[in-house]
Amino acid sequence: MLVKTKRFFEKDLSEAAKLIQNGETVAFPTDTVYGLGADAGNEEAVKKIFTVKARPAGRALNVLLAEKNDLNKYAKDVPKEALLLTENFWPGPLTIVLKKRNTFAPSVTANLNTIGLRMPKHPLTLKFIKECGFPLAAPSANTSGRPSPTTADHVLQDLDGKISAVIDGGETPFGIESTIVDLSEIEKPIILRPGGITKNQIEKVIGKKLYEKKENLNEKEKQAKRYKSDIPLYIVESDWQDVIQKLLKKKERIGILASDEVISKYGNQVAEFYSLGKKGNIDSANKLFFKALRSLEQSSATVILAETFKSDEFSEAYVNRLEKAANGKKI
Ligand code: TXA
Ligand code: MG
Repeated sequence: MLVKTKRFFEKDLSEAAKLIQNGETVAFPTDTVYGLGADAGNEEAVKKIFTVKARPAGRALNVLLAEKNDLNKYAKDVPKEALLLTENFWPGPLTIVLKKRNTFAPSVTANLNTIGLRMPKHPLTLKFIKECGFPLAAPSANTSGRPSPTTADHVLQDLDGKISAVIDGGETPFGIESTIVDLSEIEKPIILRPGGITKNQIEKVIGKKLYEKKENLNEKEKQAKRYKSDIPLYIVESDWQDVIQKLLKKKERIGILASDEVISKYGNQVAEFYSLGKKGNIDSANKLFFKALRSLEQSSATVILAETFKSDEFSEAYVNRLEKAANGKKI
């Protein structure tokens, strides 16, 4: 079904909320990336999210809340560690996975007995959830496998004509999706995805070591999770000059995604470049990464070369998303 996607602004929140209350999907900014929201209690509305994103049915959605103190309404056997995390990091870029109550539509959590909850740190998002009057199921507002959107234009690149509206609230401040921590088995807390709150910060607050996620995917699941792009992206681990020479000989049009320092050295030899900011400014790299990726993929480049950063605590999220975009390719 094709619809005309409206572009709303902050003044239109109540009109946008009405669409959600009528079972439609609306995209909106959060502190991390744009989300595609639907009434988490409405099965038909939630199913629309899966359809328009082309999201595999088994992949659960997390739910956005406007209140810190609602955990027990939506989750059961909530451990004290979860409350410590909400006290310290909510609102913010942290999704907490807990044992679920059956409050939401079944598709939200697919076949899992857990639920991922988050309270975002963005005044517009919190106002919008309150205006709707109930929690919103809200994955990132991109087509499955494409970079998460950090502007309303990115949302429309993927979903124009497929969703009822997007609320344009400018660029999202953080730029990379939330950290996901699974506390549903409190003897074995697991970090499922790195993000704005680091593993170390979480361990300090809960006083427990986090386990790393072990993925045991079959070939089909691996394919479904692959980053989808027509332009290959390589993480540069060897000498930039050698790599550039080699690719130029093959008549490739190179796009560089890197810090100012790398671009000022090699930018004049290549067709396209996009700066992530000063070397070592990880906040800037996080904020610009998905935007840079979309921009270079739409440019004349036939291959993208990307800079990785020393993987310290705060660069974990960037390195994780970069490796995903490279689908393992290093040069
Ligand atoms: O920052 C964010 O988290 C953004 C904004 C929009 O809130 N959302 C986001 O959603 O990144 P999505 O769907 O793109 O990523 C959520 C991830 C998925 O990998 C999903 O599998 C996982 O969270 N997830 C959701 N519920 C889960 C659960 N009960 N157990 C384990 N993983 C879960
Ligand atoms: Mg996503």
